[in-house]
Amino acid sequence: MIKARGLARTFTTKRGAVEAVRGVDLDVAPGEIVGFLGPNGAGKSTTLRMLTTLLRPTAGTASVAGHDLRADPAGVRRRIGYVAQGGGTDPGVPVGEELDLQARLYGVRDAPGRIAELCARLELEGLERRAPGTLSGGQRRRLDIALGLVHRPALVFLDEPTTGLDPQSRGNLWEHIRRLRGQDGSTVFLTTHYLDEADALCDRILIIDHGRIVAAGTPAELKRRVSGDVITLALGHGGADKARAALEVLPEVREVALTGDDVRLSVRDGDRALTPLIRALDAAGVELTALSLARPTLDDVFLTVTGRSLRDAA
Ligand SMILES: Nc1ncnc2c1ncn2[C@@H]1O[C@H](COP(=O)(O)OP(=O)(O)OP(=O)(O)O)[C@@H](O)[C@H]1O
Ligand SMILES: [Mg+2]
Repeated sequence: MIKARGLARTFTTKRGAVEAVRGVDLDVAPGEIVGFLGPNGAGKSTTLRMLTTLLRPTAGTASVAGHDLRADPAGVRRRIGYVAQGGGTDPGVPVGEELDLQARLYGVRDAPGRIAELCARLELEGLERRAPGTLSGGQRRRLDIALGLVHRPALVFLDEPTTGLDPQSRGNLWEHIRRLRGQDGSTVFLTTHYLDEADALCDRILIIDHGRIVAAGTPAELKRRVSGDVITLALGHGGADKARAALEVLPEVREVALTGDDVRLSVRDGDRALTPLIRALDAAGVELTALSLARPTLDDVFLTVTGRSLRDAA
């Protein structure tokens, strides 16, 4: 759905050149939800604006929704939806009129039906006569998204869809975004600062920093890259030494540490380690009273790949 190679953009300013994006390669398959994660100024919006034809790349090539970005920008625009960071609604034009205008702009068949469907789905019913300037932040964001979806795009770009929303509105919007894929079969490419959002919503995550992709993978893969999982075992009295002897020979186990009757194991993949681990303890006659598995967070991933915390950076 998206294939980009060496996409780059340098801005020339009075103070000199700003290399906002420095050669990004992207592959997004149909039906994927891909998250573009990075701190302020990393190059997320600039990349999105290039992929949506709003900004000319200084270098690189891309095919977006089956059309070449440079040779056929109009073809790209017809097949994609774009929801800008901060939105693009006219604060004075009523919600219904704005949606209607957008539908006519794209020549949508059955515009009233499509608008009614979107308003129902994005909980905008009853707001058609209101001006966007009078809507709440969450309502306005849902309107922005409705405007991006009117023409049933196969590929939707969302630039920070949930920034500034309360936790409940964010959760609701996640449901809407999941439904885009589930019901419409759309491909979604979104940017976010929120690790939990990328984790909850995305099949795959790309981390961008200083205009370059510094890590990519599924949320689980990225977390595994950091340091593996940690399994903590609570054992019956006196079992720790026996457990250590039984566990340190397992190939899944990297490191064993003892604290009293508790055993802390560092393993590469917690899911795969559990069964052999329990079998080995059982064979050694060790009584297990509790077990917990902790995975590294995406924040740990970000720290590892960029050397700073995403929270500090943002
Ligand atoms: N029109 C422009 N002229 C000059 N510099 C620009 C322009 N647009 C963006 N930049 C610079 O390019 C860099 C990347 O900006 P971009 O908006 O892509 O970041 P972002 O990852 O979307 O950040 P945020 O999370 O704050 O939205 C920043 O240093 C920004 O100041
Ligand atoms: Mg941005």
